[in-house]
Amino acid sequence: MDTQKLEEIVRKLVTAGKGILAADEIANTCQKRFDAVGIECTEESRRQYRGLLFTTPGAEHSLNGVILYDETFCQKTDAGQTFRAYLSAHDVVPGIKVDLGLIDLPGFPNEKLTQGLDGLPERMAKYAEAGALFAKWRCVITIGEGMPTDECIGANALVLARYARICQDAGIVPFVEPEVLFDGNHTSEQCETVLARTFDVLFQTLRAFRVHLPGIILKTSMVLPGKDSGVAIDHNEVADRTCRVLHAHVPHEVGGIVFLSGGQTSNDALINLNRIAQRGPHPWNMTFSFSRAVQDAVLKAWAGKRDDIAAVQDVFHQKLVLASAASKGGLDEEKLEHDDFVSHSQDL
Ligand code: 13P
Repeated sequence: MDTQKLEEIVRKLVTAGKGILAADEIANTCQKRFDAVGIECTEESRRQYRGLLFTTPGAEHSLNGVILYDETFCQKTDAGQTFRAYLSAHDVVPGIKVDLGLIDLPGFPNEKLTQGLDGLPERMAKYAEAGALFAKWRCVITIGEGMPTDECIGANALVLARYARICQDAGIVPFVEPEVLFDGNHTSEQCETVLARTFDVLFQTLRAFRVHLPGIILKTSMVLPGKDSGVAIDHNEVADRTCRVLHAHVPHEVGGIVFLSGGQTSNDALINLNRIAQRGPHPWNMTFSFSRAVQDAVLKAWAGKRDDIAAVQDVFHQKLVLASAASKGGLDEEKLEHDDFVSHSQDL
């Protein structure tokens, strides 16, 4: 394992003031999002949409990296350059989602495990050869009656550890993502406790499987009250609890931390990130790795103006500028426009 190379990639991916675009939604997820705004979802419409995002003028000033999906990894811009080559040429690191989605955890109703380890070393070698410098694997942890079980947390930690070590052996930085879902009617306190349990088991397992912690990036959810709890999001409470659980349960040698938006409104995700950054300095560089929080408004704009790409790119650019500002704790929260778009839950 080339630990120096891994740490160099990590440094690039968490360069202050920029973040990561998650554009790795599989076709099924795209279908739901496109359906919601009345756009036909085909391989070509997905290519057009992703091309619009990646070629947005100035996006590279807010982005360190983009997470792609296998289809997108191989697709090309209108000018015939692969998206991954286009991004690299603009100093934006291309990454690849390598998990193959969720399956039921047998014996544990409503709990999930993420599949995709079979053949992963071979797939990883292929992606590394083609220029991917980082990867992503998402596990989900559900909070509910009797959940999460220790077995679910343990089983997901195990696949994340095996995935992470396979990545590092191929010279690829793993984004290790144990997403604690926003869905449910739990309290913030329960969410914080579950994140703490998850991190404790995860890092113990990563160490046991000889993963080089400075060569990984943790992709995490924030501490939130459940979406169906009826409790409004209190941004200061989210920031306090999130910082507290990270500081106490994530080893300080971990390379960096990025946040998913998880189905929060765009404004909530941006303000929460801003408040978290304002509580720094932290032991790690921390930034965004959002999909919905930066893309929902863009899709909506695209549906309304299919022939005015520049106007749609402007919407995306504005979201990126806000997310970059939030990652430094410099977001002018007063200036955020009203969020009228209801996010859709992630269904992979
Ligand atoms: P959201 O920001 O929409 O949660 O997506 C980020 C992501 O990559 C989840 O795996």
